[in-house]
Amino acid sequence: MHLLVTGGAGFIGCNFVRHILAEREDVGVRVLDKLTYAGSLDNLAGVLEDPRLKFVEGDICDAGVVEAAMDGIDAVVHLAAESHVDRSIISAEAAVQTNFVGSFRIFEAARAAQVERFVHVSTDEVYGACLGEPFAEDDPLNPRNPYAATKAGADRMAHSYFVTYDLPVVTARPSNNYGPWQYPEKLIPFFTWRALNDEHLPVYGDGMQVRDWLHVQDHCRALALLLDEGRPGEAYNIHGGNERPNMETIRLILDELGKPESLVRHVEDRPGHDVRYAMDASKMRALGWEPRIEWESGIRATVRWYAEHGEWMERSVARGKAYFEQWYARR
Ligand code: NAD
Ligand code: TYD
Repeated sequence: MHLLVTGGAGFIGCNFVRHILAEREDVGVRVLDKLTYAGSLDNLAGVLEDPRLKFVEGDICDAGVVEAAMDGIDAVVHLAAESHVDRSIISAEAAVQTNFVGSFRIFEAARAAQVERFVHVSTDEVYGACLGEPFAEDDPLNPRNPYAATKAGADRMAHSYFVTYDLPVVTARPSNNYGPWQYPEKLIPFFTWRALNDEHLPVYGDGMQVRDWLHVQDHCRALALLLDEGRPGEAYNIHGGNERPNMETIRLILDELGKPESLVRHVEDRPGHDVRYAMDASKMRALGWEPRIEWESGIRATVRWYAEHGEWMERSVARGKAYFEQWYARR
């Protein structure tokens, strides 16, 4: 199989590349990544030398780049995105370009190349806040922040390519991922970094918002399964089965690091903050998948991984300096 992985130098992408190279002897993987602040070749350390992996630096918004990257490809896992809600609140421009326009370019090139399988990675955020029963795949989409809106647009555009052009798209809707190599703007690595430096932890509002945490390795197994077994035209919720209020997650981080709860500072809430994400993943489970990594040991191991990768953290944080200064100036 000749596989194109977009965003393969980002958090989920680099974990997926490692997973697929370890699982499939006969795979050839081409990564297309722009290496934004969130992507780095550091993240592919240990696999970059693998002769089955080829790295291409380029922008998914550039039709020529995408067309060339698709040459000889028979399957695509599309992960490249501007993935941070808070950044999309400061400006939605990059998210609109990459998540919507860039995704369109990838769908279009995949159609022209007649790929045999396409896994499009969407998100649970497309459903919006969950105030009742966990969302099922055919529930309406109700995105409520600019990032989620661009992801919902791409999710529906992917489906339109299945309906209109028979592009064999399978859509994954994963919940919040955690694990190694996540850019330290997201809650778990960011708060680990701050706590390690004895800096306050800016908790939005009361910190009782609920997220369902999925270990990135469980997610990667699900994506690999969807490549083989997902039904084109269908969406699949992928959850960790770990719905936790943020404060509970934060206490675990502090406990693992032996840091005091006095580091917590409740700050002004994020505008339009979704109070809960929750999905029913029985469709994914019917394919024989279930999450394997237990939450408490998983998050403790993740926090230790960040504590042991101080140089990686430092380099990553340095790439986002302007953003951190702007967003957290009054938080
Ligand atoms: P990430 O921000 O860590 O990585 C994104 C990668 O995409 C980076 O390597 C970046 O350089 C690359 N990229 C960005 N813009 C690009 C462009 N224009 N052209 C080429 N490459 C570009 O994101 P992630 O957390 O790994 O998320 C991967 C996918 O999973 C995204 O589509 C995201 O929406 C989705 N998702 C993530 C989560 C999560 O918890 N992290 C949950 C649900 C869905
Ligand atoms: P995050 O990891 O950014 O993912 P998402 O917003 O896509 O769910 O945030 C997880 C939760 O943590 C979310 O409810 C927002 C909250 N949060 C804070 O309270 N403070 C912070 O500084 C960050 C980054 C997140």
